[in-house]
Amino acid sequence: MYYSEDLVEEVRLKNDIIDVISAYVKLQRKGSSHFGLCPFHNEKSPSFSVSPSKQMYYCFGCGAGGNVFTFIMEYENYSFPEALKVLADRAGVTLPEVEYSQEARQQADLRSAILELNKKAAKYYYYQLRTEAGKQAYHYLTDRGLSEETIKKFGLGFSNKYSNDLYQYMKKEGYSDELLKQSGLMNVDEKRGMYDKFWNRVMFPIMDVNHRVIGFGGRVMGDGKPKYLNSPETKVFDKSRNLYGLNIARTSRKESLLICEGYMDVIALHQAGFHHAVASLGTALTTQQASLVKRYAKEVYLVYDSDEAGRKAALRAIPILKASGLSVKVINMKPYKDPDEFIKNLGAQEFEKRIDDATGSFMYEIEVLEKSYDMNDPESKTKFHNEIAVKLLEFTEDLERANYIEAVADKYHIGFDNLRKLVNNMAMKSGGIKEYVKPKSGLNRKKDKEDGMIMSQKLLLTWLIENEKLFQFIKKYITADDFTEEIFQKVASMLFTQYDEGMVNPAKIINYFTDPEEQREVAALFNASIPPVDTQEEREKAIKETMIRVKENSIEHRSAHMDVTDITQLQQVIMSKRHLQDLRNLKISLDSL
Ligand code: UTP
Ligand code: MN
Repeated sequence: MYYSEDLVEEVRLKNDIIDVISAYVKLQRKGSSHFGLCPFHNEKSPSFSVSPSKQMYYCFGCGAGGNVFTFIMEYENYSFPEALKVLADRAGVTLPEVEYSQEARQQADLRSAILELNKKAAKYYYYQLRTEAGKQAYHYLTDRGLSEETIKKFGLGFSNKYSNDLYQYMKKEGYSDELLKQSGLMNVDEKRGMYDKFWNRVMFPIMDVNHRVIGFGGRVMGDGKPKYLNSPETKVFDKSRNLYGLNIARTSRKESLLICEGYMDVIALHQAGFHHAVASLGTALTTQQASLVKRYAKEVYLVYDSDEAGRKAALRAIPILKASGLSVKVINMKPYKDPDEFIKNLGAQEFEKRIDDATGSFMYEIEVLEKSYDMNDPESKTKFHNEIAVKLLEFTEDLERANYIEAVADKYHIGFDNLRKLVNNMAMKSGGIKEYVKPKSGLNRKKDKEDGMIMSQKLLLTWLIENEKLFQFIKKYITADDFTEEIFQKVASMLFTQYDEGMVNPAKIINYFTDPEEQREVAALFNASIPPVDTQEEREKAIKETMIRVKENSIEHRSAHMDVTDITQLQQVIMSKRHLQDLRNLKISLDSL
């Protein structure tokens, strides 16, 4: 569906971002922006800002940001065409049918049809649980300690013992076989035709963060196999991108989430008052789930079963979560198997203590490691110590590593100096003694420089949209090509064009980026926090230095990638160097701009 740029822009202009977002978030005016509690992560004080002049939003807490389209896409979990449709309807703009590609329209329609069907099925199961036929299932749940309130909250239901009951019902409601097949609620085979996937099971609807039913888990009542049946992947159900219970947990306003293994664990924890529990959907935790978690929490507690499988799952999940920037702790539930059992036996208060006593992921990994060595055998013990030393090298910060050396030495009675020496030796062996003495490795330093470069380019772009006069001045020295980061270069070149045409419109620039990650980055770009400076003079100095850094980097970059036989490129570099020289000699005065 290719809508014309003008149409997209018309829809955007007719939907004032403050009006639109106010329907979802309570906003309060503060200076030139409006602030509220960010709907994309949990927070207690408002860091979500919406700017009427830029027609953009940005959260200083989690980095979510964009224009009015991005907001609807993120909040409602819509695709761009879906968001455009909603906003067009809201503003009374009719979208021309022809601009919808057949394919895209069908896909969007299919998604919403499946969602509608799922919702209907969930209601049907929910209703069945309360009929005579559902009595046994209802008792199964209450016997497992679930209250009526909990059953309601999670929308639990029952698929009765006839294997075509739901099918008949849906046909009566007028749904097509094709749609029923696509929903994953039906099985199809040659002999029997189409029939219900779930029958005689307790039903757990699985919802996305916006409370839309995307699939189901169904449990046998008793010991039958398989214990759980789950919806297959469909157009709306992607197991690797969703977490059970997150629709509720995201509103718990906690800075952490409890991640457990199963539906029943989540439900038992919520009932005990731990409203921040979620579970992956019967598969190992994925990177997509980790970044989903990162949007709502800073810290994660793993509440995996206390058996070997649970331990393995925790060891696999730790690096994935850490890579997303989350800090990870592991909860010990011994002597019980899982949180459901634990709470039944020891209660919520004891569980709260286990949360407080949770082991940090590093110490947990060492604890697991210990189990594979025999501490009574000197040789095995030595190997264990060596392993620890190698693992301690993961910490690149001096102080942090020293703290961990101390903690581990303490716990395993190794002696701080012994362990420190061992770590030093290991570092030397791996060719990294310098790395140890100076924790900032060459690689890190290079990375710092790159980060600094990115920051400078970002800052300059922020300044560029803040002040038109500044642009008139900056453009004498800096061109869009001086931005070496690809995405910045694109933005800069659009911004320069907009300035030349006399209309600066950052929110429109975001329309050009289709990838949500890119949109987020661009929004962040227009909202980089400008370093607080006290005086005009400091501000002038900061601008000048940033310009110089960007220019220097650009020259360095261009020289390194230059074809030396190309006269034009050579001339450009010479010109840039001249600009740089002028810049260095320049005395910026903001007053005179
Ligand atoms: P568990 O066996 O630990 O189930 O599997 P549970 O949630 O604790 O349930 P109860 O207390 O025994 O009733 C953990 C998760 O693994 C998936 C489900 O998502 C389950 O919640 N699973 C398990 C399946 O998908 N199929 C199965 O047959 C078993
Ligand atoms: Mn379990």
